[in-house]
Amino acid sequence: MRRLWCCRNVRLILGYCALCEHEAHLKIDGRPYRSITLAPDGWSVEVIDQTRLPFRLVIARLATCEAVAAAISQMVVRGAPLIGATAAYGVALAMRKDPGDPALASALETLGATRPTAVNLAWALSRMGEALRAASPDQRAAIAYGEAAAICEEDVAACQAIGVHGAGLIAQAAQVKGDGRVNILTHCNAGWLACVDHGTALAPIYHAHDAGVHLHVWVDETRPRNQGAALTAFELGAHGVPHTVIADNAGGHLMQRGEVDLCIVGADRITARGDVANKIGTYLKALAAREAGVPFHVAAPLSTIDWSAQDGLRDIPIEERSGREVTHVTGLGPDGALTTVQVAAPGSGAANPGFDVTPAGLVSGLITECGLTPATAEGLSRLRQRAPA
Ligand code: MRU
Repeated sequence: MRRLWCCRNVRLILGYCALCEHEAHLKIDGRPYRSITLAPDGWSVEVIDQTRLPFRLVIARLATCEAVAAAISQMVVRGAPLIGATAAYGVALAMRKDPGDPALASALETLGATRPTAVNLAWALSRMGEALRAASPDQRAAIAYGEAAAICEEDVAACQAIGVHGAGLIAQAAQVKGDGRVNILTHCNAGWLACVDHGTALAPIYHAHDAGVHLHVWVDETRPRNQGAALTAFELGAHGVPHTVIADNAGGHLMQRGEVDLCIVGADRITARGDVANKIGTYLKALAAREAGVPFHVAAPLSTIDWSAQDGLRDIPIEERSGREVTHVTGLGPDGALTTVQVAAPGSGAANPGFDVTPAGLVSGLITECGLTPATAEGLSRLRQRAPA
């Protein structure tokens, strides 16, 4: 049975006590959290509402497949691994209500249409579909909950391993620097909020920081939705990692001046030849890093690799979001309420591609749960052979 209280008698809503059997790595105000978990009722799902961070820590309860689809579309939950994990629970909720074939097909279709770029969504749904089609309807709800929980646990393990492998790169940079701090630049939020725990790009940073490496993170604000300023800065701050938020345009300047030792970003989809789709603006950072001779690493679990895609520009669908995310920004008003204000000239049109593709040639290496891999067709093919089936 799922434990509801930790050994210090604190009710567990999202996390697992550091002293209990599942150690949660990341804490807010000393309390361990995961970005998604089953609610105390044992069937609905609780997530952190990421549209309210960093100013409010609000837990959203999702009780239907439709609510899960809306939470993904509206970015209450976001980040490639978390999108996949949440969608898996969306299928479980649908099966609890109606385990028939039409309901299964409809859940997979509804959830699959929510966000196009992060391949973890299609990966998780295909895994759920495979497990459920083979089962009789009376078994489907239980199987779906089990599979969704397994997807979450596997993501935690993968991200933890990414942290260990990637921390080696940071330790190397620290050795080169001697006494000086290692400066790492990251884009968007590829931390525990984007996964179930640990994160991808941030996992090596947490791991190295916890091991005592003297480091500092440059956090790209990540317009238009500010996932860096709002989420990455929040995460790093809550864990005590030294960091500074910068305007997206500042990265090239800092790299030119030797103030960035390495870049680590996450990914929404990696092709079989190593092209990487990630949050819009990643490509510009990779270009600047190449020009300045700064290593540019991409951290992602194997569930982010689309083995059917080769040419990232041709094969990866890029999400187009509302222009309103560009023309308006949301923040904390002077009255303490979340407020949205317009920043673009009234009447101007706005385009909002959500992701871009960094060609494999600009990527110094991939950090996955299996270790460090060159972003090349050969490297990925070796990785595929080593990867668990
Ligand atoms: O639009 P978002 O916020 O879902 O985009 C998130 C990113 O681009 C992340 O870098 C990526 O999903 C990796 S998350 C571990």
